[in-house]
Amino acid sequence: MKTLLCALLALVATGAAAQGAAAGKAVYDSTCAVCHAAGIVGAPKPGDAAAWAPRVKGGLDALVRSAIKGTTTGMPPRGGRPDLSDAQLRAAIDRSVRHRVGFCADTCHLYAAGYDLVRDFEGVWRNWDATCGRAHLRCLHLNDSKTPLGSRRDRHELIGEGTLGAAPFRRIMREPRFANVIKILETPKGDDEFTQDRRMLRRLRAYARGRPAR
Ligand code: HEC
Repeated sequence: MKTLLCALLALVATGAAAQGAAAGKAVYDSTCAVCHAAGIVGAPKPGDAAAWAPRVKGGLDALVRSAIKGTTTGMPPRGGRPDLSDAQLRAAIDRSVRHRVGFCADTCHLYAAGYDLVRDFEGVWRNWDATCGRAHLRCLHLNDSKTPLGSRRDRHELIGEGTLGAAPFRRIMREPRFANVIKILETPKGDDEFTQDRRMLRRLRAYARGRPAR
């Protein structure tokens, strides 16, 4: 079972994360690749899910501690580079285990956090791709918002009936890049559990077919 990290894009400091990825690549290429790219003496290769699976269980912090200390079975302390900072090691490790991470984006949270899905849909996803990586978008919580752009208040509204309106949801339901992303409704239920959810599902299906919403 893959770990699905539910995270708000809002929590990711955009530029900082992109810089971290670049720093991680530089450290990895110059120092870690010597052993890890080829899997020398059992060094887990980046992207090798089976090799990393038992190691990532304790979380990223534990892996960073382990790399700082080194292991008795082949991993030299700090990869043999005492000058590398903890942050540099972390960035290099993060890069090696990133394939294990999936993000869940919530349309309402994004909008409330100031990501303008209404007027700059393309820009928000470009930003996402640069920061989190397209392949790591695994899940979308589909919610309209009761509050305006950048309100920093998370109040879900029925799809197409809030400040986001229908347009971003139509695109999400129609564009191939979102086709394989799990979508979960978290819209208000009203008096019973089913009526509104069924309406919302009909509405989203209509968006997907490009028909006027009911
Ligand atoms: C001289 C070869 C070598 C170099 C250079 C090297 N590693 Fe390793 N690394 C290994 C080996 C071998 C293992 C597996 C050791 C084990 O399972 O105990 C390992 C394991 C690890 C682990 C997993 C530790 C754990 O507790 O499961 C991490 C994280 C790691 N390396 C990060 C790095 C980073 C980051 C760099 C570069 C800064 C780096 N390594 C450089 C050989 C190396």
